[in-house]
Amino acid sequence: MTTPATKRPLWGSNIGFLLAAIGSAVGLGNIWRFPYIAYKNGGGAFLIPYLTALVTAGIPILLLEFALGHQKKASAPKAFALVRPRWEWLGWWSVIFIIFGIMAYYTVVIGWCCNYLVFSFTKAWGSDPNDFFFNTFLQKSSGVWSLQGINPTILAGVAVVWFINWFITFQGINKGIERAVKFMMPVMFLITVTIVIWSLFLEGAGKGIDQYLSLDFSKIADLDVWVAAYGQIFFSLSLGFGIMIAYASYLPDNVNLMRSSIIVACSNSLYEMFAGIGVFAILGYMACRQNIPVCETVTSGIGLAFIAYPKAIAMLPFGNLFGVLFFFLLVLAGITSSISIIEAFTSALMDKFTFNRKTIVTLVCAFGFAESMLFTTHAGLFWLDIVDHFINHYGLLTVGICEAIVIGWLFSTDTLKIHIYNQGDKSDGKILTLRWHIVTAWGFCIRYITPLALGIAIINSLLTDLSAPYEGYPVSAILILGVGCLLVTHIAAIVVAGVPWKKKDE
Ligand code: ALA
Repeated sequence: MTTPATKRPLWGSNIGFLLAAIGSAVGLGNIWRFPYIAYKNGGGAFLIPYLTALVTAGIPILLLEFALGHQKKASAPKAFALVRPRWEWLGWWSVIFIIFGIMAYYTVVIGWCCNYLVFSFTKAWGSDPNDFFFNTFLQKSSGVWSLQGINPTILAGVAVVWFINWFITFQGINKGIERAVKFMMPVMFLITVTIVIWSLFLEGAGKGIDQYLSLDFSKIADLDVWVAAYGQIFFSLSLGFGIMIAYASYLPDNVNLMRSSIIVACSNSLYEMFAGIGVFAILGYMACRQNIPVCETVTSGIGLAFIAYPKAIAMLPFGNLFGVLFFFLLVLAGITSSISIIEAFTSALMDKFTFNRKTIVTLVCAFGFAESMLFTTHAGLFWLDIVDHFINHYGLLTVGICEAIVIGWLFSTDTLKIHIYNQGDKSDGKILTLRWHIVTAWGFCIRYITPLALGIAIINSLLTDLSAPYEGYPVSAILILGVGCLLVTHIAAIVVAGVPWKKKDE
């Protein structure tokens, strides 16, 4: 394995690639995670750490992943192997922990959304959505190790989600993913605009939005707020997942990578800020109807989608329609992200081994579905919370730091800089000069700023987690589900990286 493979499928159009990359970025994290994180961490003032994280780590790592995948025409493990064979494990680690870590519970949450989509028709949650969610729907057990079997309602939703994922990715890049995102992304956009405009006309919407955008500059001095900003940017832009490397590897030559990374990053951020307006307008409406302050209606991600929104839907005129639109939006946003996770892993296996796509996708989806079952037990919510915390705070950020170190220090950054510079239109001298300045700033960021910022974020999380077990969970659960998930996937990555390459380059 010495030269990059040449025969890879290609996106049918640049817009197909952009929609797929934006679809991967815009997911559940944008709709329910961002508004809450922004509100909790200073409201409008959160934009300062958020935009800093976007500029110092989000866009630089996105551009790095695009450029690496595009230059090497390879998935994450192969791309790193072509940079330095010893770093192949890094690519495997990212694609393994996202498929067996994030994907296992992400599909379960999309499954809940499918269940709630059906519940919306009858507002099945009745007058107490909180009790319905925890006791009737999840039937949450009393502790992490009290699994009490599988919940069949949840299992049905999860089976539907895995089937849709299998159906799309089985058909490949053009007939599967590209076709799906060309349909799903415009529908998502239309539903989002409808929901936000609908919310803006509700009584009390202004109060909710005021709360969302209220400026609390005192929070900016808190390191945790900065860590939250970097974590949000990484999860939301699907960085460290190996996805953007795989997606860029399907691009033809001479594509303006710099422009693509800015379009994807800005679309993702604008989407989450816009979605936040709709979310807080609804919370303002609820507060107004219940005559309570807006802050009492605000809950974190899961509480927002499955408790606060159902409460609002119960009060709204045409609430059923609103509920169907909202949960359908979550399902679409989740699917456009989950297919990208499957693709990152599938393309990695296809690059190294001789299996064909259909076999790999079928096996991956069957195995992934079996693993998701663990999160459909009555203790699934606890498991999800622990795995999510450790992968987001340590896995993704560690991959980000390693990527920056490998590309910034072990590989000649100039090679990638020149590759980025040479992409796109070269007829205008002024644009070329600007492009060179941006590429130079990018190189500096990748070498110094990104690893430093991410390193501080990880150390801060580590100090917090060492001072007390996360959310008071038993230490055994933290070690087995959190640390264990990272360690086992790391060992698996090293083992797979040690297997000789089966596929010869065409
Ligand atoms: N980027 C995806 C999301 O935000 C994973 O949900």
